[in-house]
Amino acid sequence: MALPPILKDKLRLPVIGSPLFIISHPKLTLAQCKAGVIGAFPALNARPESQLDEWLAEITEELARHDAAHPDRPAAPFAVNQIVHMSNKRLEHDLSLCVKYKVPVVISSLGAVPEVNAAVHSYGGIVLHDIINNRHAHSAIRKGADGLIAVASGAGGHAGTLSPFALIQEIREWFDGPLLLAGAIATGGAILAAEAMGADMAYIGSPFIATQEARASEAYKQAIVEGAAGDIVYSNYFTGIHGNYLKPSIVAAGMDPDNLPPADPSKMDFEQATGGAKAWKDIWGSGQGISAVKAVEPVEKLVDRLEAEYKAARARLAL
Ligand SMILES: Cc1cc2nc3c(=O)[nH]c(=O)nc-3n(C[C@H](O)[C@H](O)[C@H](O)COP(=O)(O)O)c2cc1C
Repeated sequence: MALPPILKDKLRLPVIGSPLFIISHPKLTLAQCKAGVIGAFPALNARPESQLDEWLAEITEELARHDAAHPDRPAAPFAVNQIVHMSNKRLEHDLSLCVKYKVPVVISSLGAVPEVNAAVHSYGGIVLHDIINNRHAHSAIRKGADGLIAVASGAGGHAGTLSPFALIQEIREWFDGPLLLAGAIATGGAILAAEAMGADMAYIGSPFIATQEARASEAYKQAIVEGAAGDIVYSNYFTGIHGNYLKPSIVAAGMDPDNLPPADPSKMDFEQATGGAKAWKDIWGSGQGISAVKAVEPVEKLVDRLEAEYKAARARLAL
């Protein structure tokens, strides 16, 4: 199945800059879109909830201004991430704003719900749902999502455990719609590899933490620059859901990252499970691909690097 125009027409690379709790805000999203990749942010990052209206107005107006000034290189569309979970009391409010501003792409996480998909379809938007296994992928498509984000092992934040090869292969056996791959993708070669194995696009998070536009502390950005796969630990201790985190931040919080206790389910709540500020502010999420990140740079330079590497990988393979 051909990719919908929203996911390809104005893109310089087949990439979504994935939503990052606390870190993604209009400045980062706009920089990603202007650099030619889809920029995304979680609706919950706008706090209080009334701020979401302001953010969506700002992004919509600024992208329209950019396109009028640069018709030769229009900005990529943007995406809003909705946590679909019964404890997310803001969902209805946040979704109605996505409808008001006709947000081109909505990324739903945790729960797949037909009403969310119908609301987004009402104005011509598309819904991508993130999943970590084939069973959840089937359920999301059955409930009306347009596409899937396969979150494989090594992804930053809440991550799966499956090999990207196995996950994409299983989904492609029955699904020919839009399919993205997430997990430790940090080079242009890895974007091409995702396409080669059957994905349409790459979903990239952690490298964007170490950009000038990201809303992360300098220490966090430096930890991404200095880190590599061996510095990442996979644990459910902090939110009740397994995710990947930077070991130095766990050491700084006075814990031993190599001996974390299992999560206590009785202590888990929505705020923690969907990114409780404390867990994410002090315990830093990151995927395993960060060795490719050598400096804190503007988003534009990161996307330039990804594009140069992507072209070099294509040339190497004589594509
Ligand atoms: C610090 C951090 C925060 C994240 N917050 C969210 C979030 O709020 N919503 C969401 O759907 N995914 C979230 N993710 C997951 C990313 O959107 C994406 O799946 C992941 O970053 C991809 O793996 P990579 O970091 O190795 O590129 C987060 C990831 C990180 C590293």
